[in-house]
Amino acid sequence: MGAYADIYQGWKNDPEAFWMGAAEAIDWSKKPSKAYFPDEGPYGHWFADGLCNTCYNAVDRHVEAGRADQNALIYDSPITGSQRSYTYGQLKAEVEALAAVLLDRGVTKGDRVIIYMPMVPEAAFAMLACARIGAVHSVVFGGFAAKELATRIDDCAAKCIISASCGIEPGRVIAYKPLLDQAIELSSNKPESTVNLQRDELSCERIEGRDFDYTGEVARHREAGTEVSCVDLKSTDPLYILYTSGTTGQPKGVVRDNGGHMVALQWTMKNIYGVDPGEVFWAASDVGWVVGHSYIVYAPLIAGNTTILFEGKPVGTPDAGTFWRVIADHKVAVLFTAPTAFRAIKKEDPEGALIDDYDVSQFRMLFLAGERADPDTIHWAERVLKTPVIDHWWQTETGWTIAGNPTGIELMPIKYGSPTVAMPGYDIQVLSDEGEEMSHGELGNVVVKLPLPPSCFPTLWNAEARMREAYLDEFPGYYKTADAGIMDEDGYLFIMARTDDIINVAGHRLSTGGMEEVIAEHPDVAECAVIGITDKLKGQLPAGFLILNAGVDRPIPEIQSEVVKLVREKIGPVAAFKIAVPVARLPKTRSGKILRATMQKVVDGEQFEAPATIDDPAILDEIRASWKEHAG
Ligand code: COA
Ligand code: AMP
Repeated sequence: MGAYADIYQGWKNDPEAFWMGAAEAIDWSKKPSKAYFPDEGPYGHWFADGLCNTCYNAVDRHVEAGRADQNALIYDSPITGSQRSYTYGQLKAEVEALAAVLLDRGVTKGDRVIIYMPMVPEAAFAMLACARIGAVHSVVFGGFAAKELATRIDDCAAKCIISASCGIEPGRVIAYKPLLDQAIELSSNKPESTVNLQRDELSCERIEGRDFDYTGEVARHREAGTEVSCVDLKSTDPLYILYTSGTTGQPKGVVRDNGGHMVALQWTMKNIYGVDPGEVFWAASDVGWVVGHSYIVYAPLIAGNTTILFEGKPVGTPDAGTFWRVIADHKVAVLFTAPTAFRAIKKEDPEGALIDDYDVSQFRMLFLAGERADPDTIHWAERVLKTPVIDHWWQTETGWTIAGNPTGIELMPIKYGSPTVAMPGYDIQVLSDEGEEMSHGELGNVVVKLPLPPSCFPTLWNAEARMREAYLDEFPGYYKTADAGIMDEDGYLFIMARTDDIINVAGHRLSTGGMEEVIAEHPDVAECAVIGITDKLKGQLPAGFLILNAGVDRPIPEIQSEVVKLVREKIGPVAAFKIAVPVARLPKTRSGKILRATMQKVVDGEQFEAPATIDDPAILDEIRASWKEHAG
């Protein structure tokens, strides 16, 4: 057997020993007596009687162990033309001072704090400051609109919100404060206070008594040398809530705990990514997504690496050589990003010529996740970088790789189109809709045998019944990933598509159901369907099909632009919703279910067979014709 197979089998034979071994790499204030506690929560809990603190493991322990002068975080912002770096010692000072500010605001263990910030180091400080005092953070991506922010404020009943005056996108400065004020206005569970970081590009007004100045408050505590110790938390206490798209407009609050999360993430840094403490690791994502939580902030810091926080885009800030410049400037060993970033670079610089301007000799490997990595993009990246390019598959719910290539254990042969094999902790199976095991090579529902390993969500925030219904009920004894895929005879997995109405736009997970709910609010729309169509750059793009109310005789382009504006206002620019096509009818089954998958095939020009249950096959021709007329 190879090294991976040995380790995977070792985990299968004795998961308890495997995870207790991995837990040795974490500093506990009280060591857990065992790894798995089967009788707690929907499928059990991990390290339940252990006490620990995630901020201590990500920051303080490195300072105590002699890494105080090593860079912990490098902020590289081509969009503002600035760079800053923080050693572990400086990181501790920043985090401790901000933790003191939160305590001043009455935030204590178990309180929820929303972080609505652009890609600035203070976003990471805020996450760690919450972790330090046991407050539960919930980071909301800056590309979401006020209404989405309000939904999250209400769901987690945030006591405080940490935000910034603005975010910066190419060509425009986005004022965050009006969005924040509007969200608070819309919410029924209003936070007691907000802490605002004033940025040079645009400052904001504060409301006396409610809004506090980040910089001034932090400086006061830093100068006073206020000490805030890391509180002991139960391993199972929540570290954060991260909202992700469900099939409706109500997002799911994925909960992450402290102990299991640390154990799993620490294990991944060497075993999956092959990096040692002290090396530079860069996840080019956003702190608003799970990749940002796990691999910009927590994993590299827990493992004692230097992490890069990049505020920019792969292209246009200033050009398609930016990634190579960052790799060269900061001696990045490993980069993790979404395939769409490389498709964007490839589009601008098809030959990859810009890399010749930089010394990237210390770069070892590229990891891709967030959406299917198409073989074309992988081949191109391999050719340009001259290093292995590794696809790996995971979800917000897991927080780390389900299937991947454990390069620190052994670089497994790459099969293009496959994220490789199951990681220890995950017993992946492919089942038919009836729950029967499929043969190798057959497409089915990808599921994971329970229990899920450490770091995976123990539940949804205040929604345990929804957790069971969405993930556990359909295939008893298994976690439903809602991805469809194939396992080959070598145990390599191929992820093909979602089995629900989630689409993946530029590596961002979006709910078509959520968009439909918004579009249905338009007074001229009687019914609608949103599908994900294939897009060369972003993987998928949402497209809306609208049946207008009888008698509507306004110009169609006017209605189309109103619908586009409505989605942007209610969900946010991140939805990238720009296509709205009027149709006379929508294809449905005889029982009234809209045939979204068939519509997508019609629009993408793929081969398909009309489902036997279709009410009227002629509607598919109408869809094709409307598409050609309005969007094709
Ligand atoms: N705040 C406000 N608006 C934001 C935003 C933020 N933090 N992030 C994105 N947006 C806006 C964009 O400006 C864009 O607005 P527009 O419609 O006015 O142009 C819209 O949301 C869609 O954004 P995006 O899908 O990111 O498209 P883009 O054209 O700006 O960039 C890529 C395309 C491929 C370059 C970019 O998506 C990317 O770098 N992706 C790879 C990395 C990544 O983030 N992966 C996520 C998970 S790993
Ligand atoms: P998110 O929760 O936003 O990380 O999105 C998770 C979803 O993205 C998965 O359920 C998949 O549909 C998709 N996904 C993530 N990584 C991959 C990958 N490597 N290959 C194929 N699909 C992926």
